[in-house]
Amino acid sequence: MQRKYLIAGNWKLNMNQAQTESFLQELTSELDAIKNISHIETMVIPPFTSLEKAKNTIRAKSLPFKLGAQDLSQYDSGAYTGEISAEMLMEIGVDYVLVGHSERREIFLENDSVINAKLKQALAKGLKVILCCGESEATRDAGATDSWVCNQIESALQGLDFNSLNLPQNLVVAYEPIWAIGTGKVCQADEANRVISVIRNKLASILGKNIADQIRILYGGSVKGSNIDEIIQQSDIDGALVGGASLKKEDILAIIKSTAENFSTNKQPA
Ligand code: PGA
Repeated sequence: MQRKYLIAGNWKLNMNQAQTESFLQELTSELDAIKNISHIETMVIPPFTSLEKAKNTIRAKSLPFKLGAQDLSQYDSGAYTGEISAEMLMEIGVDYVLVGHSERREIFLENDSVINAKLKQALAKGLKVILCCGESEATRDAGATDSWVCNQIESALQGLDFNSLNLPQNLVVAYEPIWAIGTGKVCQADEANRVISVIRNKLASILGKNIADQIRILYGGSVKGSNIDEIIQQSDIDGALVGGASLKKEDILAIIKSTAENFSTNKQPA
């Protein structure tokens, strides 16, 4: 089954508008020089206040980036101080939204039912979703990684009307072991690949094998220019969700370049 590689840079709480504009402008000529870049999908995920600046710069410079948001509200509108709705994101031209990132789960205490509501809200309004899952170090040490991530997937997809949603187009999953995020400790590529195949089997049990085989599953957690090759060469890994390294020009360019090069030598995604 052919799946298009996706490299998504999650900027987290970094990059104001001026930094967003200059960073994207600096990447322009280098991105133009990357062979096969049109065969992979690339994305930046700035904070809310930099989304419009990013969109305008991407348009003005004809950059190959899709635009992602880091979060959305599960509500449409009303008395929800601090929230940003799916429609507000769509108005700016956002394509994707992260749901269930471990920092939202751990620091902002988003539970499975909030994540489920956000996923449904995003898909219902026409945003594509990158659904994140991943275990803590304690869960891994207890040998419970597989059941943990499968439960996260199952509860996130609970009650979703699969038939009316084109999930191969609109849903991406990211496996991000929490102990590997921002720590420099990368999950061994073959172990990440194993967990990702467990996730794909779980998706198959819920959605059917045909749909599960078309859904892209990314790895995230301390991905850099120096380790992307062994990650992207794994059979089940369809790209990377990159945090810290996506803020560094050399690193993100190296990650995109290696992924585009692997397009021709590895899985030959569509
Ligand atoms: P990291 O973050 O690449 O800095 O480990 C990944 C993420 O949180 O998506």
